[in-house]
Amino acid sequence: MARGAFISFEGCDGSGKSTQAAQLARTLEALGFPVLLTREPGGTAISEKIRQILLDPENAALSETAELLLYEASRAQLVNEVLRPSLEAGTWVICDRYADSTYAYQAAGRGLDAGLVQRANDLGTCGLEPDLTLLLDIDPAVALGRATKGGADRMEAEGLAFQRKIRAGYLELARKMPERIRWVDAAGTEEAVASRCHAVLVRRFPELGKAGLHV
Ligand code: TYD
Repeated sequence: MARGAFISFEGCDGSGKSTQAAQLARTLEALGFPVLLTREPGGTAISEKIRQILLDPENAALSETAELLLYEASRAQLVNEVLRPSLEAGTWVICDRYADSTYAYQAAGRGLDAGLVQRANDLGTCGLEPDLTLLLDIDPAVALGRATKGGADRMEAEGLAFQRKIRAGYLELARKMPERIRWVDAAGTEEAVASRCHAVLVRRFPELGKAGLHV
């Protein structure tokens, strides 16, 4: 059986990537592909417990290094328990955030050393890289307003200047790895953004176009 494809969605808080990831999962399933939709931090019972620690606004005292290691711990569990076995079984895995988030948030955002974050990512991913990453890019001022409508989590509470650094980090990654990371304009309606994502997907995976994925 052919290995499944691993697609990650990235972007600032409120960029709409969770909506797009869920929509894509539904669309691919409707086209007959075996699909797993998951998220980071989270996606396993243990990783979801780590997520609660990471996002709890009461944990303001969490150190930057502890934060980095908790994201990686959550990831290593997800990779070994869910991602690798699913991909080996031929499932298309769609992940809402992955290791590029750690570069954008912990290196570009928090200011941790980029080489250190890279080594931590090597450990957390256990060497598993996405086949394609869709970077949903939008003005952080618009995105943060959306994301914090119902209240801010510990990361969102860092504010707009933090989100701007994250965006810059993502754009730098996309410039460095244009083959894997594809920039997508995340402004506009859900349908417009989905259509841009589909165009990128069909180019990378022609079998999706043949199966009827519409742009
Ligand atoms: P979440 O509510 O999932 O955000 P979103 O809905 O925007 O995806 O919370 C995840 C938060 O954790 C988000 O602010 C990004 C942050 N994060 C990191 O700082 N580093 C990481 O490695 C990951 C995966 C997420």
